[in-house]
Amino acid sequence: MEKLYEGKAKIIYPGPASGTVRVFFKDDATAFNGQKRAQIAGKGVVNNQVSSALFRYLEDQGIPTHFIRQLSENEMLVKEVQIVPLEVIVRNRTAGSFSRRYGVEEGRELPYPLVEFSLKNDALGDPLIEGDAALALGLVNGSELSRIKELALKINALLKDYFAQRKLELIDFKLEFGKLLHSAAPTDERGAIVLADEISPDTMRLWEFGTGEKMDKDRFRRDLGGVEEAYQEVLRRVLWPEQPST
Ligand code: TMP
Ligand code: ASP
Repeated sequence: MEKLYEGKAKIIYPGPASGTVRVFFKDDATAFNGQKRAQIAGKGVVNNQVSSALFRYLEDQGIPTHFIRQLSENEMLVKEVQIVPLEVIVRNRTAGSFSRRYGVEEGRELPYPLVEFSLKNDALGDPLIEGDAALALGLVNGSELSRIKELALKINALLKDYFAQRKLELIDFKLEFGKLLHSAAPTDERGAIVLADEISPDTMRLWEFGTGEKMDKDRFRRDLGGVEEAYQEVLRRVLWPEQPST
């Protein structure tokens, strides 16, 4: 099947109907802007199932997303969107690049959730960008930018709660939004901003309640070991929240 696009962790194929695309989740993992590469066995299946479950949950809670349905273990069907070239990061505790940039220890609770933007541009290393600069560059307009912030904060509140019920603390995460532009989209939805891409252990930091154990891609980025096991455990808690961990 002809690929529409291949990224570091996913491949996009044409969907069965116009205005839809198929997303295939790969086991390939990269970090540090592609400098570190490996395969994480089972990652594609975990990320597809976790993302599908989270998109369904968020849709049920009134968040518009690109998600249509899960197609198989490692594929989902989504609405075709034009991706807004911003990575939208929400932080509840200090970690990662925030801690490095400002010289603060990881794990400090922030007084309120922070929304940051990076420009989606691998050649530039996805630099941090201010909302005003994104407006000046025409990447979004004012109402799109406020809608993105509003949705990002709502999603944060919903996901924090979702993971707390699974004894995982949502430290931070990255979202991408898209615009529904395809002529197959209903007229009242055309141009609407929807949540797109994925939400998975690749794109979130999740720390286990009590132990503080990292249950996300930091295990790969930082060579902590137990990478596959952490991904499987996140999937298990997403699918079967009521079963205590072993
Ligand atoms: P950061 O602290 O490295 O900026 O990462 C913040 C969050 O964003 C973290 O949960 C990991 C996620 N993230 C991505 O999904 N993709 C990326 O390319 C980067 C750098 C971070
Ligand atoms: N996925 C990004 C990259 O390849 C970065 C990351 O998640 O750490 O570099």
